[in-house]
Amino acid sequence: MSYGTVKLDPRENKVNNLNDEMNNLTIVDLKVDYSDQDIADCLKSALVDASVSKDALMNEYAPYLGVPRFNSAIARFYSKLTNRTLDPKSEVLVTVGASEALFATFSALSSPGDEWILIEPFYAKYEPQIKIAGAIPRFTALKPANSNENGNANNWVLDRNEIRNFINNNTQGIVFNNPNNPLGKSFTDNELKFIAELAISHKLWIISDQAHEFTLDTMTPIASMPGMFERTITIGTASKSFGVPSWRIGWAYGPAEVIRRLTYVQAQIIRSPSTPPQLALAVALEDEICNFNSSDTYLARARAHIKRKRAIMIEACREAGMLPVEPRGGSCLIVSWPGLSGIDLSPVSGRDRGEKFTNWMLENVGINSVSFNIFYGENHKPLGDDYLRFCYNKNDETLRLAAKNLLLLKEYVNNS
Ligand SMILES: Cc1ncc(COP(=O)(O)O)c(C=O)c1O
Repeated sequence: MSYGTVKLDPRENKVNNLNDEMNNLTIVDLKVDYSDQDIADCLKSALVDASVSKDALMNEYAPYLGVPRFNSAIARFYSKLTNRTLDPKSEVLVTVGASEALFATFSALSSPGDEWILIEPFYAKYEPQIKIAGAIPRFTALKPANSNENGNANNWVLDRNEIRNFINNNTQGIVFNNPNNPLGKSFTDNELKFIAELAISHKLWIISDQAHEFTLDTMTPIASMPGMFERTITIGTASKSFGVPSWRIGWAYGPAEVIRRLTYVQAQIIRSPSTPPQLALAVALEDEICNFNSSDTYLARARAHIKRKRAIMIEACREAGMLPVEPRGGSCLIVSWPGLSGIDLSPVSGRDRGEKFTNWMLENVGINSVSFNIFYGENHKPLGDDYLRFCYNKNDETLRLAAKNLLLLKEYVNNS
């Protein structure tokens, strides 16, 4: 008997609960992008209304593509953003979060030995999902355009020659995450043009993961560029857009033939996503459509909220002597700490320097975080060793406690 090709991650999780105690410190958990804040009343009441509805279909499997009212709202909403009329009956699929949309896409579009280009840092599920689909990830890292410009995520750029050189007959496509999570970079129009030209000239698929799209003030969906709709699968999620990860609803839109194949894969795994949250989200999206471009919609308010949290976190890191890589979008912050060079990490447990740094932070500063190196392929992990990722979509009290703990770093600078 064997266990097949799935490899488990051996990293240990030292903290079980937010605000655990360790070494007399209250641990502040910034490791995972979990929010400790309540959701908007309008979303709650839309879900309650859907759940208590007398419509017997609310308790039935949803149609394979999704609840038609929701598909229609997604199509109408994204038609505005892509300047193209999306067909809700063939070009939009409701999924169990962006996670399952990604899984269905890699499964539907990969044959054994196919290659996908992954831009590092990348959302951690891409690599295992590609491998489960029998395909091969090829890694290319975003790097600061020059070494003293690493304090701004948008100065981290693509290695265009490396990407061009990766392309061969097995290349199936590029996984494009805009804004990039965890870096928070928002790709420029010039970078989008580069990716689009490459995709068109080499007949590549683009998987455009736009999970964090509404944290940006403006964003050009790559599918809206000339010649790109027919080769792009765009993925979004209510987890990030509406702050409701527990509802497990996401979506994919793209050319009808691809959506048909994603739908087939999805039907074999889960049949279709839960029905009531789809109806609740249809109501929320319809409101966005009615008030498109207003600064008083749920999405606009959520964007202002996350920007405020980001500013608090950046300020706290700077006060503590850390160097944040200022993001444009998303809800994570990458930081480095010059004082690290004076700290002896050899007695600290951990598989590599990055994990030792996070364990040192947990034990001495009371901040639970994750090493930036987990967002890189095996050979590129050292690129992330000296950075940590903090998730800051937390209530103000949690952020205040984080700021207080981070100040403990100052003791180590003076002593080193
Ligand atoms: C870039 C990115 N893609 C996909 C996902 C998965 O989201 P979901 O909760 O919709 O499965 C996340 C969640 O953090 C993400 O950050």
